[in-house]
Amino acid sequence: MKPAVLLTGATGYIASHTWLALLKAGFDVVGVDDFSNSSPEVLKRLEELSGTRPVFERADVCDAAALEAVFQRHRIDATVHFAAFKAVGESTQKPLAYYANNIGGLLNVCRVMQQHGVHRFVFSSSATVYGDPASLPITESFPLSATNPYGQTKLIGETILRDLGAANPAWQTGCLRYFNPVGAHESGRIGEDPRGIPNNLMPYVAQVAVGRRPFLQVFGNDYPTPDGTGVRDYIHVDDLAAGHVAALRRLLQAPGSFTVNLGTGRGYSVLEVLQAYARACGRDLAHEVVPRRPGDVAACYADPTLARELLGWEARHGLDRMCADSWRWQSMNPQGFEA
Ligand code: WQD
Repeated sequence: MKPAVLLTGATGYIASHTWLALLKAGFDVVGVDDFSNSSPEVLKRLEELSGTRPVFERADVCDAAALEAVFQRHRIDATVHFAAFKAVGESTQKPLAYYANNIGGLLNVCRVMQQHGVHRFVFSSSATVYGDPASLPITESFPLSATNPYGQTKLIGETILRDLGAANPAWQTGCLRYFNPVGAHESGRIGEDPRGIPNNLMPYVAQVAVGRRPFLQVFGNDYPTPDGTGVRDYIHVDDLAAGHVAALRRLLQAPGSFTVNLGTGRGYSVLEVLQAYARACGRDLAHEVVPRRPGDVAACYADPTLARELLGWEARHGLDRMCADSWRWQSMNPQGFEA
């Protein structure tokens, strides 16, 4: 019998790519989403790409009764919890909404899992828990801090899972600290589709390339980095999806919990991303240097050694592939999923 995995936030960017990777790896998948930050169109694309009808339940992870009904209807062996609000700036304006959704949703999922004797849990964490690192590359033993409510919800989420495991060793949890997920499935049929003005670099660059935005604002070129612009560890979303498959296999095959970085170990600057994207789309991309964005750090990239040792996983795609796949998605879907 195939292991059955529940994905919350299942029609979101990283979850939808993970859904495909899990099906391909021989897992059964049950997807749950309330479409608060994603489109039902994703389900049609997943059916087209996988050749099977997605098993999906529309539900809000903050609705305990709805989650209970999902566990009544489906066999679940493990959960990957993606459902969360993720905009750093928005979180400083709406802290209550972020704590209610990100922490309340996590607590609900854990409670219903516990009631059904399901104790394998993969958590979407983030490199944001490292704050402004004192050195680079970043290992999992670095000090943790949060400078915004979004980052706090990730820190608190990791603490909740650690305490669950300490109270009951049946809980096996994998915290995956994502660095900067970018790119899209090679088919161009699913990809990142932020609502409103993109907060993150690559979706914004993609919208400049496709003509939806006139130019990119480069947030500062006076950082202590090789070209003065911010350096980040961009990781292809399909490499990230593979990291989730490896984490689930580990949880299903060996006892114990873990926290690992999912990054490439390579940092690229804003200007390097712009140059790579220009190569991918075949045109120069208008940009203007403006003052730094409050809260940004100069540089952040992972030491991915532990994930390689524990999960047998490492990222395979470089920046040019990330940009090529992002551009294929954006050029084939200029308005995203809402055609
Ligand atoms: C990358 C670089 C910007 C936009 C955040 C969250 C993190 C995770 C990923 C959720 C920086 C520069 C950006 C723009 C720019 N989110 N930039 N112009 O800030 O590293 O991480 O998103 O999990 O938790 O903190 O990513 O893509 O916003 O910025 O110059 O229009 O691009 O200054 O150097 P970030 P980002």
